[in-house]
Amino acid sequence: MLVLLATASAVLLGGCGQSKEETKESPAARQYVIGMSQCNLGEPWRVQMNQDVKDAAAKHPELRVIFKDAQNDTLNQRSAVEEFISSKVDLLIISPKEAQPLTEPVARAVDAGIPVIVLDRALLGDKYTCFIGADNVKIGKAAGQWIVKKLGGKGNVVELEGLMTSIPGQDRHNGFREGIAGSGIDVIFQADMKWLEPNARTEMESALSRFDHIDLVYAHNDPGAHGAYLAAKAAGRDNIIFVGVDALPQEGVAYVQQGILDATFRYPTGGAEAIDTALKILKGESVPKKIVLGTRLFDKSNAASGGEPLP
Ligand code: FRU
Repeated sequence: MLVLLATASAVLLGGCGQSKEETKESPAARQYVIGMSQCNLGEPWRVQMNQDVKDAAAKHPELRVIFKDAQNDTLNQRSAVEEFISSKVDLLIISPKEAQPLTEPVARAVDAGIPVIVLDRALLGDKYTCFIGADNVKIGKAAGQWIVKKLGGKGNVVELEGLMTSIPGQDRHNGFREGIAGSGIDVIFQADMKWLEPNARTEMESALSRFDHIDLVYAHNDPGAHGAYLAAKAAGRDNIIFVGVDALPQEGVAYVQQGILDATFRYPTGGAEAIDTALKILKGESVPKKIVLGTRLFDKSNAASGGEPLP
């Protein structure tokens, strides 16, 4: 019995001793906590962004990412940033709902010594560490040029805008106007659907009731283009062309392949790039102030073969 007890305690002690030993020989790598403030998870594109962040972070055991969903409410998102500041995260990633109201809380994070990566929707000024996103003026302009070509230089177009207090909405609008400048395209109806499919559907119902002749709808995202398509279909207006932005394989690209949309432009989520950049910042390496992601056009001619890059 004594022998047994002695053996057992030796094993236990040995076990403990061994793990202490291990800790001494290979000190646990420094762990980093990243706070990720997502403005909403209502659209598939944002679910994909969080997944991309999660997948990229999973390859680095030293990273732990805490996600907060602001549920498309700016005040919620301001609180999320405040909470991340109080809990002293090592780095903040934010995809802000709107530019102006989120600029100040992010500046406070920077003042508190927390590096901040701004993803997809830009803020005002330059008080953050790095911005990552595609060029929305370029996307809007390419959409405009594609539309001019598709309509042979003239036609009646409806523009369904993304939230105009967010920079991508403003940029996709300005770029589009640049792309159609000098053509015979007439924008007969323009409304802010705030990135949301149900709003796009309602706005399109108004456009349909006011205008008998609509050639094409340019929506600032694919959920908006899809909402407009559903409104037109319900009204029996079959010969309208729909163009969107995002081109997720399971959303916009699938719509093109199903003949619902005629074109969509890829808007990469930047999730993986955000984690790469976070690692560099956490290791003390310098990163550029702005990382511009590429985009691709998907239409009937190229959707099956992966779209084509924009020059
Ligand atoms: C999702 C979304 C995308 C769009 C992006 C712009 O919330 O509306 O569809 O491309 O945000 O920031």
